[in-house]
Amino acid sequence: MKKKMISMMLCAAMTAAMLAGCGGNNAADTSAPAAEDGAGEETPEAEAPEAEAPAEENTEAEDASAAPADGTLVMATNAYFEPYEYYEGDQVVGIDVEMAQAVADKLGMELKVEDMEFDSIIPAINSGKANIGVAGMTVTEDRLKNVDFTNPYTTATQVIIVQEGSEITGEADLTGKTVGVQLGTTGDIYVSDMDGVTVEQYNKGMDAVQALTTGKIDAVVIDNEPAKQFVSKAEGLKILEEEFVTEEYAIAIAKGNEELLGKINTALDELTADGTLQAIIDKYITAE
Ligand code: ARG
Repeated sequence: MKKKMISMMLCAAMTAAMLAGCGGNNAADTSAPAAEDGAGEETPEAEAPEAEAPAEENTEAEDASAAPADGTLVMATNAYFEPYEYYEGDQVVGIDVEMAQAVADKLGMELKVEDMEFDSIIPAINSGKANIGVAGMTVTEDRLKNVDFTNPYTTATQVIIVQEGSEITGEADLTGKTVGVQLGTTGDIYVSDMDGVTVEQYNKGMDAVQALTTGKIDAVVIDNEPAKQFVSKAEGLKILEEEFVTEEYAIAIAKGNEELLGKINTALDELTADGTLQAIIDKYITAE
């Protein structure tokens, strides 16, 4: 099996960014569906789970003046990414949430989870609205220009999901096809950079998977663990064995916040050394 390493991903990310900057074809093609898929679908679903916290309803519109209170560690995430973060009733649970809770405990802080669009997470950190971004977020060169990352807490891969009878057996077969991704993710960056592939961007991974189920698109590229969850909940889909890219997830923090970065890295080291982190992962992911 062919496995490309993270450096490939970084190259792809940088190339995609350059294309976007130059108004290259790929980037121009892909920006259109995002706008369509975005506004209309997201709002009603995204607001429903927040009903339990009416005071927070407008937080996304707030600016740096809404900086988190002392003693509160605000975690920005996108809670449609099981098993890392997802809703159980009106509560956001998952590996990232439990890990962040364990970190907050070590720091003597109270954890507050803010659910938002994936591509709002880095802006939320930079505006001071959130202290940390924990969202199965892959470390990329591009993101490192805007935020710092802690030491990685897990590795992941991008995989391809197709319909069971699909003629697509690997990355090479995606040429001429329409591929769904979650907007702003590494899967999006990677597929957007592929020649001859049409990208459809969705606000949630599950929306892409649904489009695949109905035959609207030919494949979905997404992180391996959420892919397993989505496929298990859908009919007639499978994950191809070929893995696209190996990545590392880490916690994002505002640039220059060395103190918090140091404290969280120490907490992560301790949680790794005493087995807590692995226990949290094992609770959500069954080893194969
Ligand atoms: N690992 C991918 C990335 O960093 C996807 C993360 C999506 N996370 C989420 N909570 N929706 O781009």
